[in-house]
Amino acid sequence: MTTKRQILVTNALPYANGSIHLGHLLGYIQADVWVRAMRAMEHDVIYVCADDAHGTAIMLRAEANGISPDEQIKNVQVEHERDFADFGISFDHYDSTHSDTNRQLAESIYLANHQAGNISIRPVTQLFDPQKQMFLSDRFIKGTCPKCQSGDQYGDSCEVCGTTYNATELINPRSTLSGATPVQKSSDHYFFNLPNFSQFLQNWTRDKGRLPTSIANKLDEWFEAGLTDWDISRDAPYFGFKIPNTDDKYFYVWVDAPIGYMASFKNYLNTCRPDVSFDDYWQKDSQAEVYHFIGKDIVYFHALFWPAMLSGANYRTPTSLFVNGFLTINGEKMSKSRGTFIKAETYLKYLNPEYLRYYFASKLSDKVEDSDLNLDDFIAKVNSDLVGKVVNIASRCAKFINTQFDNQLSNECAEPELVERFIKAGDSIITHYENREFSSAIREIMALADLANQYIDDKKPWALAKDPANAKQVQAVCSVGLNLFHKIMVYLSPVLPTLAQKSQQFLNVDNFDFSARFDILTHAIHEFTPLMQRIDPKKVQAMIDDSKENLQPANPKSGKNDKKECDKMENQNEFIGIDDFAKVQMKVAKVLECNKVEGADKLLQFTLDVGDVDENGTPKTRNVFSGIAKFYQPEELQGKTVICVSNLAPRKMKFGVSEGMILSAEKDGQLTVVLLPDSMVAGATFA
Ligand code: 2FM
Ligand code: ZN
Repeated sequence: MTTKRQILVTNALPYANGSIHLGHLLGYIQADVWVRAMRAMEHDVIYVCADDAHGTAIMLRAEANGISPDEQIKNVQVEHERDFADFGISFDHYDSTHSDTNRQLAESIYLANHQAGNISIRPVTQLFDPQKQMFLSDRFIKGTCPKCQSGDQYGDSCEVCGTTYNATELINPRSTLSGATPVQKSSDHYFFNLPNFSQFLQNWTRDKGRLPTSIANKLDEWFEAGLTDWDISRDAPYFGFKIPNTDDKYFYVWVDAPIGYMASFKNYLNTCRPDVSFDDYWQKDSQAEVYHFIGKDIVYFHALFWPAMLSGANYRTPTSLFVNGFLTINGEKMSKSRGTFIKAETYLKYLNPEYLRYYFASKLSDKVEDSDLNLDDFIAKVNSDLVGKVVNIASRCAKFINTQFDNQLSNECAEPELVERFIKAGDSIITHYENREFSSAIREIMALADLANQYIDDKKPWALAKDPANAKQVQAVCSVGLNLFHKIMVYLSPVLPTLAQKSQQFLNVDNFDFSARFDILTHAIHEFTPLMQRIDPKKVQAMIDDSKENLQPANPKSGKNDKKECDKMENQNEFIGIDDFAKVQMKVAKVLECNKVEGADKLLQFTLDVGDVDENGTPKTRNVFSGIAKFYQPEELQGKTVICVSNLAPRKMKFGVSEGMILSAEKDGQLTVVLLPDSMVAGATFA
């Protein structure tokens, strides 16, 4: 090995309001493979992450769950840490941005920037929800597009005509949180003066190796358009850190999120690595390397705000940003109705995590490209490469060594040239890992697996074994085969840590770093046990079915008679067909707010949590009007769990848009709302 490098690696911090899904895992698996490869090269790697715990979305999610934000983030962190561990993501430390260390660092970085003249304060007028008593960001405001008059459009842009506008320009705006009509209100905001860093950033982003070229080019467009001040404050109520020397201003979540990388690292050193100095990694002239693995959607924050904030506070900046694209499944965006919005937890109920690690690695390169998980290809590739080729080498050779040679490998290598070829191949494979060209690494490793199988096919130990006179030769061939398997598994170990560990145990070797490739095995091995099962396509289908979030029709095709029965029913007027019924989507809903409607004696207005999230995973509430004011006082329904027909087309009423219907039972003109046990989770569907 050459010099030992000091490397700090981070992954983007997941928000503490949702589960880890396969889209997230692409980036975590990418980083983990790289970290494990760099460790296998015996560099000093520290790999940290944390939950991104602050912001309005998390505050509202906690409210919807009826718990405090602290409880909310604790619960989610447990789930996230479990999922990452189950997928073999080898963080040295996992933290939360809601930590004292992060608060201290965020305050000091802010104060240093303040001191340096990079902060300014000015009033901003925004829409304010008079009922919730809070300012509304664009995604919490809906109204009619000022350009094309389409209803139900968000506060920043119209999905129908594509126009972007200010939320204040919407016609009939309303808060999606309460349904109230927002009012304009002004308050002081704190700004980070990004243009002060314009020249610095233009140089920084063009430094060699800093960013993928395609991203640096994109940034040039932003520089040409001109950088603007960044609004870093949010008014109360907000779940976050208070800005020093203010009473009611909080840091916008994206201020303290990346600082969370530093804080997590610092907390790790404090608890586990007193031998490492924080400053050695973060001071301006640090020789250590810092790498952030991020998705392409958060480049703006990491390539502009983050280095500027660090530089303004006299810290070093990241060595490089490694940017990954998005995940598609079967060529399309992940979708809840197609069952391709697959949570980590759901995947693990059916499949081995190493299948996914292998498939992702076989697709990933150093380019910022989207990756597709084609499920048929996934099954075919894993079964053919890992089970059919790699594990097969061991199972073909092990049984002879185990049963006929008392586990003992030959004490001399019969094919030094072939084995040498496998060792030499390591140079290029390791370089591919280092450059994050995992698909190339995998291609070269699989070429070795083909060669190894070819060797065994040629030598036919099973045929040789028929004649006891060939015993020495059988042992020699199988020993070569297992030595080849050993090299292959050393090379695959960053991708398949569990399979590598089982192989290491079976081969009875201590070291599995990349340097282990030079070892020629001549000792006694252990008993071979099956190392990996084939993927059963039925399990993949079951995972998809389990991930589907829509109403499943009762199975009308389960038998001839059933089908006939259905047809008969569909022909009778008093029945609707199962297909029509299947269109109606009913969801468990929590009543966050219930209010009387001024000027409408019959109506109650509800703000419901039906488990909706927007494309960023931010919870969205629904506004529903229901004609039951004669039968209920609002307090009676507040906080209750009800059933909402969630896929009714929104209805524009005089008092606002109604986005669903609450189920109630009617008898003799008396209406009773159908109440569910509070243990039922918002968003659950009825099947
Ligand atoms: O986009 C996201 O999911 C953010 N939670 C990522 C934060 S990364 C870092 F800056 F903290
Ligand atoms: Zn429009």
